[in-house]
Amino acid sequence: MKIFIDTANIEMIKEISGLGILDGVTTNPSLIAKEKTDLRTCVKKISEIVDGPISAEAMSMDAEGMIKEGRELSLIHENINVKLPMCAEALKATKTLSSEGIDVNVTLIFSPHQALLAAKAGARFVSPFVGRLDDIGQVGSEMLSQTVAVFRNYDIDTEIIAASIRHPVHVLEAAMIGAHIATIPYDILKKMISHPKTDEGIRLFLADHERAKKS
Ligand code: G3P
Repeated sequence: MKIFIDTANIEMIKEISGLGILDGVTTNPSLIAKEKTDLRTCVKKISEIVDGPISAEAMSMDAEGMIKEGRELSLIHENINVKLPMCAEALKATKTLSSEGIDVNVTLIFSPHQALLAAKAGARFVSPFVGRLDDIGQVGSEMLSQTVAVFRNYDIDTEIIAASIRHPVHVLEAAMIGAHIATIPYDILKKMISHPKTDEGIRLFLADHERAKKS
C-alpha cells in the first residue's frame, strides 16, 4: 500500500519524507487554511520536497470553473493532481481534465456508487472518507471494502485513496482491505512508527550492553 501524508504542513512533510516511506501528499482547503498559506505557494513547496502525486483542490462548483482551475493547478508541477468534490459538475470536469492528461482525485466519496462513477469519468484517484462515515454511525471500512471489491471486479485502474483516517486501526483496515493508498495525518504516522514493547526492548538492550561493557 502506498503511503501519502494528509497535511499542508511543510515541516511535517519534510520530516516524514526524510524517513523514506512517503509516496505522495494530499491537501484540502481546511488543511491549507490551518497553515495560513495559499494553495499555489503551498503545493509548489511540497513539489520541491516530495516526488510523487500531490493533490490540490479546486474551489469552483461548476464544471467550467473546475476545468479552468484544474488546468492552472496542473501547470504548477507535473506531479499535481486536481482534487474535485464529488458531484455531477465534477464528473463532467473529470472527463475533460483526464482527456487532457490532467490527473484528477475525486474527493468526498462516501459510497461505492460515487467511486464507480468518478472512475468511469476518468479519475486517476478516488478518495473514500472512512472516518467521516464512522462519525455518523456508518461503517467507513465497509464502504471502502465494497469500493475495492467493485474496482477489482472490473479491473478498474483508478487508485483508491483511503482518506479521513483517524487512527492506526483505520490504516490497518485499509491495508487489509487492499486500498491502493492510505492518506494519513502526521500524528497517526508517528503513532505507527513506535510500539511500547519496541521502546522497552531498546531500553533493555542498551542497559545489557552497558552492563556487559563494565564486566
Ligand atoms: O484529505 C481529506 C480527509 O483525509 C479529511 O479527513 O479527518 O477531516 O475527515 P478528516
